[in-house]
Amino acid sequence: MNRPANANHERPLLAVRDLHTRFHVDGHAVNAVDGLSFDLRRGEVLGLVGESGCGKSMTAMSILRLVDGSPGVVGGSVLLEGQDVLGLDEAAMRHVRGGRIGMIFQEPMTSLNPVLTIGRQITEAVRLDGVSPREARERALHLLELARIAEPARRLDDYPHQLSGGMRQRVMIALALSRSPQILIADEPTTALDVTVQAQILDLLLDLRDRLGMAIILITHDLGVVAETCERAIVMYAGRKVEEGPVEALFARPLHPYTRGLLRSAPRLGRGTERGARLPEIPGMVPSPRAMPQGCRFAPRCELAQAQCAQAYPDWREREEGAAPAHAAACWRLDEDAHVL
Ligand SMILES: Nc1ncnc2c1ncn2[C@@H]1O[C@H](COP(=O)(O)OP(=O)(O)OP(=O)(O)O)[C@@H](O)[C@H]1O
Ligand code: SF4
Ligand SMILES: [Mg+2]
Repeated sequence: MNRPANANHERPLLAVRDLHTRFHVDGHAVNAVDGLSFDLRRGEVLGLVGESGCGKSMTAMSILRLVDGSPGVVGGSVLLEGQDVLGLDEAAMRHVRGGRIGMIFQEPMTSLNPVLTIGRQITEAVRLDGVSPREARERALHLLELARIAEPARRLDDYPHQLSGGMRQRVMIALALSRSPQILIADEPTTALDVTVQAQILDLLLDLRDRLGMAIILITHDLGVVAETCERAIVMYAGRKVEEGPVEALFARPLHPYTRGLLRSAPRLGRGTERGARLPEIPGMVPSPRAMPQGCRFAPRCELAQAQCAQAYPDWREREEGAAPAHAAACWRLDEDAHVL
């Protein structure tokens, strides 16, 4: 890859700025992602967390320009090493999608073709980079080994339905790594798996990050997964970022009432056996995108809501100005309640 060895350390690998993704449903505009901005640094594992319907998958799909539906991404930029992928033509985008950014989809069967062998699927992906059939097979074997699949040579001839859930997930990881991406986006990579296999897959992802140096965006509803895997996390609510910070600070001193609600009712964190529980119940529901509250979107569920909250969307404020990495949230009552859990 044509990059200076010591590129500017300050520049994030990926910079998402003011991303807007919209759909039209029954004549109404639905904002699935609404003004989202964040940075991903080289080699970091960034969590994207929030309840169902908060826009996590849509964020991933928007970054890869895979949004299915009209109008899709309507604003903002997705800068990969400074270049906006939203402005690339489709040929250049194919180099980014699967090439520089690998993706593990939330629905396993979205990535695996049931009628092709594992070997065929991986070699086809590898061959997009122009390698010979023999090299492609060797690389497929190497990728299955990297993904810690036992007897990889034998597995090459298997079809997806012949594999266990955990093994299928490993094959998806191998596929996502097939073109040596700089970034891996993993959307709920362990949700469907039992606890032991979950732990193995997360361990594998971290090991691959260390060995290959790629950055990971880990999308999950599971705070236990975030605690054990991520360095920083972004909490999304109703299409917006409500809090962001280093995981330790986020868990020890959450700023936003939504984050506190998630943590308060989560199973005790940090114990492998409890990972995998569904997100805890906060009274009420994520608002329908068709009926978004005017001001703070969490106001209808927030026990701290006051008149101001319903009138205007809160500013984004940092706990400590200039601290790096920043810990910040969007809440009118940040100062008063910052230490209450
Ligand atoms: N094709 C579509 N047309 C209209 N609305 C859509 C479409 N796809 C997603 N949405 C809406 O966008 C919002 C965000 O959905 P998204 O799939 O990103 O949520 P999520 O955070 O990934 O949830 P989950 O945890 O359930 O996977 C939801 O309100 C969803 O209903
Ligand atoms: S802005 Fe108001 S309603 Fe929103 S989270 Fe903060 S206190 Fe609650
Ligand atoms: Mg999703």
